[in-house]
Amino acid sequence: MNIAIVGSGYVGLVSGVCLASIGHRVICVDNNPEKIKKLKKGEMPIYEPGLRELMHECVKKKRLSFSGSIAQAASQSEVIFLAVPTPSKPNGDADLTFIENVAREIAKSMDSYKLIVEKSTVPAETGQKIRRTIQLNLPAKYKKGHKILLDFDVASNPEFLKEGSAVYDFMNPDRVVFGVESKKAEGILREIYKPIKTKILVTNTASAEMIKHASNSFLATKISFINAIAQICDRVGADVLNVAEGMGLDKRIGRQFLNAGVGYGGSCFPKDVDAFVRLSEKSGYDFALLKNVRAINEEQKQWFVRLIEEKLWNIKDKTIGIWGLAFKPNTDDIRNAAAIDIIKILQAEGATVKAYDPKAMDVAKSVLKGVKFCVDPYEAAEDCDCVLLLTEWEEFKNVNFQQVRDSMRQAVIFDGRNFLDGRQLAPLGFEFFGVGRGGKT
Ligand code: UDX
Repeated sequence: MNIAIVGSGYVGLVSGVCLASIGHRVICVDNNPEKIKKLKKGEMPIYEPGLRELMHECVKKKRLSFSGSIAQAASQSEVIFLAVPTPSKPNGDADLTFIENVAREIAKSMDSYKLIVEKSTVPAETGQKIRRTIQLNLPAKYKKGHKILLDFDVASNPEFLKEGSAVYDFMNPDRVVFGVESKKAEGILREIYKPIKTKILVTNTASAEMIKHASNSFLATKISFINAIAQICDRVGADVLNVAEGMGLDKRIGRQFLNAGVGYGGSCFPKDVDAFVRLSEKSGYDFALLKNVRAINEEQKQWFVRLIEEKLWNIKDKTIGIWGLAFKPNTDDIRNAAAIDIIKILQAEGATVKAYDPKAMDVAKSVLKGVKFCVDPYEAAEDCDCVLLLTEWEEFKNVNFQQVRDSMRQAVIFDGRNFLDGRQLAPLGFEFFGVGRGGKT
């Protein structure tokens, strides 16, 4: 099929490349000319494992191209996916200006049937609003009074991929959801996803939009729940790793997303939780549970800093080494990363901060001032009063901890992801603290 994807960020680019790789002809569109220039040269605007190779392969097979023009891409495609950003407004609402603008542009260039598919996370009812925007902006020849003379459909096909394993997730989803209002739209989406073998759930558009909201909010709830448990574990001498294992063995609960730490970040959970709280409020429901999920996530970072203060005595004038800046491993994304917030709190309290991340240093340099960026974990730990592990990159398991210990002013490690094995570090002379480990290693 001929497909256009509007928005070439994490979701759009991965979806575009993957759809091309399963046999479709895809045009990825973006309004950032620099990004399109880069993509045309074969350069990646983001780091995502496996994406570069797959993208080059698809371009070579002439299944994938890039364009700065929505009108041009839309005119060559029957199906147009919307994967543009839906950032949070100051009041938490999702800002849907990009979606509206794109819908308007698509409408103006329409001259045949199009299926417009939302991929970005959007509030329930956005599908209806897109439909209305398209009707209002269709060329005059396709409107006769209130009658629309050009057939089109709007559908929702929420994307559940995770950064860091995005290509794998897209190709091997637990389920694919089609929110559709017509058999024709369902048929087209079934055709597009035919090579992907998984459970397909067909609903109306509003339910598909809700599935995405509810799923992300539920996962965020799971994380905040275990973080709250971690706080109690620390106070009563229990170990949250054992607790999560014991809970997770119950198939109704499951072990996934029960990793306590410094809180969730990224481009989705914080924004989506905010948007869902607002959506609920507007619909007349006070989603107090979700508000607490958000509050626990914020407190978690403050609590971690207080733990450091308790163990280091004073934060002022201490030198602190940071291992990991990205909001999670295998990505260069630092949006809403706990590490960034924690560094800012430490700096405000007078600490000197050194940092290392395998992939996220370039982006971090633009948002962090006064941080010494280091070439490796060793340099980041050198002459430090403590090291904080804030992103669980595999690389940090394999460092030579004796070398790290010898170069530090005080051999103290705070593991904000419960990633390292404290039992191996203690005999080397480290003081080691995790999250919710009952004050023990
Ligand atoms: C998430 C959803 O998982 C995905 O389905 C949706 O499409 C987009 O949002 P993503 O933001 O890429 O994906 O990352 P994810 O792996 O879900 O992690 C989100 C955050 O939660 C990270 O900061 C991670 O460190 C944190 N997390 C995750 C925990 O703190 N504990 C956990 O147990 C799991």
